[in-house]
Amino acid sequence: MAEAEVDDDVLGKDPTVDLLERRVADLLGKDAALFFPSGTQANQTAMLLHTSPGTETVCDSQSHVFNYEVADAAWLAGVQLNPVESDRGRLTAADVMKAIRPGDRHHSRTSLVWMENTHNMHGGVVVPLTTMQSVRELASERELPVHLDGARLWNASAATGTPLSDYSACADTVMVCFSKGLGCPIGSMLAGPQELIEAAWSVRKRLGGGMRQVGILAAAGLWSLDHSLPGLVDDHARAAKLAEGCQQIDGLRPVEPDTNIVMIDITTAGIDAAELARRLEERGVLLMPAGPARVRAVTHSDIDDEGIHTALEAFRSAMV
Ligand SMILES: Cc1ncc(COP(=O)(O)O)c(C=O)c1O
Repeated sequence: MAEAEVDDDVLGKDPTVDLLERRVADLLGKDAALFFPSGTQANQTAMLLHTSPGTETVCDSQSHVFNYEVADAAWLAGVQLNPVESDRGRLTAADVMKAIRPGDRHHSRTSLVWMENTHNMHGGVVVPLTTMQSVRELASERELPVHLDGARLWNASAATGTPLSDYSACADTVMVCFSKGLGCPIGSMLAGPQELIEAAWSVRKRLGGGMRQVGILAAAGLWSLDHSLPGLVDDHARAAKLAEGCQQIDGLRPVEPDTNIVMIDITTAGIDAAELARRLEERGVLLMPAGPARVRAVTHSDIDDEGIHTALEAFRSAMV
């Protein structure tokens, strides 16, 4: 980062940002990509590009866009979200079909279909490629664009061996984050067709996301593609080890993880999630409550085998 060659990216002149944008566009099989300060801003830029006020976006009921973007779709784009239940975030064509509006005088018009892979709040669940392909097929029949919130698409690809570009072929625009499992301090990317990414420039600027010598952050992104990406499979193995270990502790009911997120039900633990998180923090282990009786543990580039051992020891002593 310190050695990054930089220039003014608001003028489109930062060579390190250009390198990262080109590399990600190629990885995702899209014409172009644009660097953003956050996943939320890149997601909402996509929302603004694909929709118009008074229309609806179909998404999963546990999706990040519905629950954790501060009603951004309504606030910024004037869009109503139509959240549908799915089997652990694996949104199917049948789920989406139920939510697409009939296009009569009484309903808002459906303008966008939204997918998330891996699915964060369902515990890093991988949505199968074939499921995504059938959603894409339905959307195409209905002439609806598709956006993929792929904050952790890297993890889906690492877990299944499916190329990133196969997943992103199921969507018009794709958002990916460097600031999650890849371990960068800041940065996300929106990729898609040339004319949409061109339009995304102005939207990003409006939202205050134009940054100047931002090559220092893009350099971290480039480093992470070379150094963190190959390690994601190890994060997944460690998450599986953490889940196995938790299974042996009374009161913890972990869900077997697909990738790097372990959701642990603590309904029978005798303490609530906030108290458990507090006790673990005292023991040097950070995780987040995911509801009153569930905690969410994540493995990433800073967690090694010793870290899993430490976490399990902390769970054991925090639960007594
Ligand atoms: C699935 C998903 N999408 C989008 C985001 C938003 O990313 P950011 O925190 O960079 O705005 C997150 C953040 O956790 C996420 O989990």
